[in-house]
Amino acid sequence: MKKLLSINTNILFDIITKNIDVGIAIIDKDGYLVYYNKAMGEIEGFDSNEVLNKHIFDLFPSVDMKNSSLFRCLKTGKPIYNDLQSYINKKGKKIYSIITNIPIIEDGEILGVVEFAEDIGKIEKLHKSVNNWLNYPKLNNPDSNADRINHYSFDDFKTCDKSLLDLIEKVKRIASYGSNVLIYGETGTGKEIFAQSIHNISNRRNKPFIAQNCAAIPENLLESILFGTEKGSFTGAITKEGLFEEANGGTLLLDELNTLPAYLQAKLLRVIQEGYVRRVGGREERRVDVRIIATVNENPMELIKSQRFRQDLFFRLSTLYICIPPLRERKDDIFYLADYFINKYSTVFNVPKPKLSKEVSNFFMEYEWKGNVRELINVIEYVMMTVEGDREIRLRHLPVYLLEYLEKENIQKKEIIHSSYSDVVNDFEKEMILNALIRNNWNVTKTARDLNIKRQTLQNKMKKLNINKLK
Ligand SMILES: Nc1ncnc2c1ncn2[C@@H]1O[C@H](COP(=O)(O)OP(=O)(O)OP(=O)(O)O)[C@@H](O)[C@H]1O
Ligand SMILES: [Mg+2]
Repeated sequence: MKKLLSINTNILFDIITKNIDVGIAIIDKDGYLVYYNKAMGEIEGFDSNEVLNKHIFDLFPSVDMKNSSLFRCLKTGKPIYNDLQSYINKKGKKIYSIITNIPIIEDGEILGVVEFAEDIGKIEKLHKSVNNWLNYPKLNNPDSNADRINHYSFDDFKTCDKSLLDLIEKVKRIASYGSNVLIYGETGTGKEIFAQSIHNISNRRNKPFIAQNCAAIPENLLESILFGTEKGSFTGAITKEGLFEEANGGTLLLDELNTLPAYLQAKLLRVIQEGYVRRVGGREERRVDVRIIATVNENPMELIKSQRFRQDLFFRLSTLYICIPPLRERKDDIFYLADYFINKYSTVFNVPKPKLSKEVSNFFMEYEWKGNVRELINVIEYVMMTVEGDREIRLRHLPVYLLEYLEKENIQKKEIIHSSYSDVVNDFEKEMILNALIRNNWNVTKTARDLNIKRQTLQNKMKKLNINKLK
């Protein structure tokens, strides 16, 4: 024990802060971030190397001396415990977190502040997963737990995108056959709507629909939850059926399947192929008849290439393959959905329906919508509260994180304005040629054809812009 405690505290600090699920950030007495752990990045949507050595006012322009609990703590030298905060993070996700700020004081001098943050949404998800499993099948009683009740149908998926409308019609025709389904779409694109609608249209609709997010829980626990446990298999293990047995006859939705470790992907494949499940620590093979709907939020081909998704499992699951494009690639849908939700909230809040101003429409068109429809809904809900008596939704009504984004973009645009004309044109030309070369495997003839210029012209440009293939 003594030996362990005499270990370099830096090593211990590193082990603790890297592995703990609590976000930790440290600012110095001038407000510069000197430490930022991975968990904090996950909550706020930043990468730690994006924020280190930056001033928090630069990172969060909406924060100032008055409203920042960090600065209050820095000024007063008094800790602030369990402050509840809610905001939309950099990725457009609504976050509720509990914040604690502790001043670092040495010889009476305040040197900085440590901030701890816990994401309530994440704690809730974990709690719900484990609790649902432990209390099943009680929860499957139609009178209890609303979370188990699936309510979406295809009518809830609003779109004016022709190819998505065609896809929905196709899925409706074949969904009743009970084949496994793989849905690929970025976060917030409506995968859950599709999954529930497929179940509700199939002849399994009167049987259980159980959803499990594979990323929400540690892998050992996930194995027990999916496949069940047998008493004595590990200390304290209880005899409990897993979600496969619970979903028998119905549908099991496995969200973020790509986060499943390889050995669990292999085990899953076996259950799907053989139709039998064996509990952790158990001997008996139990017959199960479950339709799997799996979702991934990264391109499955890329996942297979980088060995994060087993190819054989992909083939088994993708009998029905659904790809929902991100919102930024469905420009018409941005306005169709914005209009739909403005209408909806006008009715809910009982206020006249405001219009999108030209600047906001332009911004919506350009913006990347990383949180997709979920983000759009959050934004509309927010502006419906800030627009008040105005008839038009203006930029100033948008959530703070979008205004910060706009400010940054403008700075970049200003940078372009201040650069020389030829530099900007050359950079643009170079990027376009490079992309075409990569697309055509560095074959100059094909690239020239692709760009619709002469081969000789391309070669001259490559020379002038100093474009060479890296060895
Ligand atoms: N086309 C759509 N029409 C209406 N509502 C939509 C549409 N797409 C998404 N939504 C809404 O956006 C929110 C997110 O949708 P959903 O939960 O289905 O996304 P997801 O793809 O499962 O996201 P995640 O990967 O984060 O789990 C929900 O409130 C859903 O009702
Ligand atoms: Mg989902």
